[in-house]
Amino acid sequence: MKLFDVYPLFDITPERAQGCYVWDTNGDKYLDLYGGHAVISIGHSHPHYINRVSGQLNKIGFYSNSVQNPLQAELAQKLGRQSGYGDYQLFLCNSGAEANENAIKLASFITGKKKFISFKKAFHGRTSMAVALTDNPKIIAPVNESLNAIILPFNNIDEVEKALAENEVAAIIIEGIQGVGGINIPEERFLMGLGSLAKKHNCLLILDEIQSGYGRSGKFFAHQYVDISPDLITVAKGMGNGFPVGGVLIHPGIKPWAGMLGTTFGGNHLACAASIAVLEVMESEKLIENAENTGNFLMKELSQISNEYKVRGKGLMIGLEFRFEIQQLRRILLNDYKIFTGVSGKNMIRLLPPLSLSISQAGDFIQAFKKAFACVKLVEETG
Ligand SMILES: Cc1ncc(COP(=O)(O)O)c(C=O)c1O
Repeated sequence: MKLFDVYPLFDITPERAQGCYVWDTNGDKYLDLYGGHAVISIGHSHPHYINRVSGQLNKIGFYSNSVQNPLQAELAQKLGRQSGYGDYQLFLCNSGAEANENAIKLASFITGKKKFISFKKAFHGRTSMAVALTDNPKIIAPVNESLNAIILPFNNIDEVEKALAENEVAAIIIEGIQGVGGINIPEERFLMGLGSLAKKHNCLLILDEIQSGYGRSGKFFAHQYVDISPDLITVAKGMGNGFPVGGVLIHPGIKPWAGMLGTTFGGNHLACAASIAVLEVMESEKLIENAENTGNFLMKELSQISNEYKVRGKGLMIGLEFRFEIQQLRRILLNDYKIFTGVSGKNMIRLLPPLSLSISQAGDFIQAFKKAFACVKLVEETG
């Protein structure tokens, strides 16, 4: 059987990884400023993570959600304390799209309404309503086109107010920082406005923190730079440091009933062990503070190299927006300097490294970037 060929692949085969480095089958060592798409939070193959996950596997790896699983309660307790949402409830699932799908479903159950608002350049996943609310027609199959999805301009509160007037909207969903769409940070007054409009119109506010959450922005959640309390917060990616796990943090005012949501694999023993290990390492190694410091260092240094590109982001979620296409620059970084980076569209390099990235490793990137950028400029100038 062949694989279903949907991914354009680099010709690199990672074989092992440690901290912020990945080694391929040729023995080449790469600095990972991509984190496997913002997934590696505490660093690759962290010893505490390995102990927790392998120790759990030696005891019990899985049982269904029909029995007691104290690891779920331990995870909820730790996540509540560390995120500042101790009074919220946690529903566990397996991926980001699934977390959003469950949040959307909850909002519809609670309000009895069907319509949802999202924003231009949003990415919320590839399942049914999550993809309908994603601003990319290429990944929306005809069956997922929905009249219940209203996609509005980003940072424009007047448009939101107009759309809410009919009183048919169950929830507004917004990323803490838009990731796939190009590191776009919602303005403070926009987020505050969404919070108050949601309350006024009996609709919920869903913060998709799947990419921007779990410490990446220099706060536990990116929306915590602003004084708002969403009704639902979705998480995945960094939560399991590579173990597939997702979750919805649910406002205490939302009451569950038996069977309201459900999943076979969500919250299994291994996923909980991985997620608990992540929170323990984040706390003991002060990774959120590290993300803020290293992120600030990177952004300051990068903005001083040239004014031919724009730098934006928070913590270790950084975008470099160029006026030219970045394919060649990214290829030089990868092939000549052995550095993984991400992209957004054709003109942006996206940095999403492990939250443990040190100042010295960030410095190595800066040195390589300067040379790679100079090389691209030279080619541009000399044709
Ligand atoms: C903001 C955001 N929401 C949702 C998702 C979907 O997550 P998953 O790929 O785990 O389904 C992503 C993935 O990139 C994301 O960045």
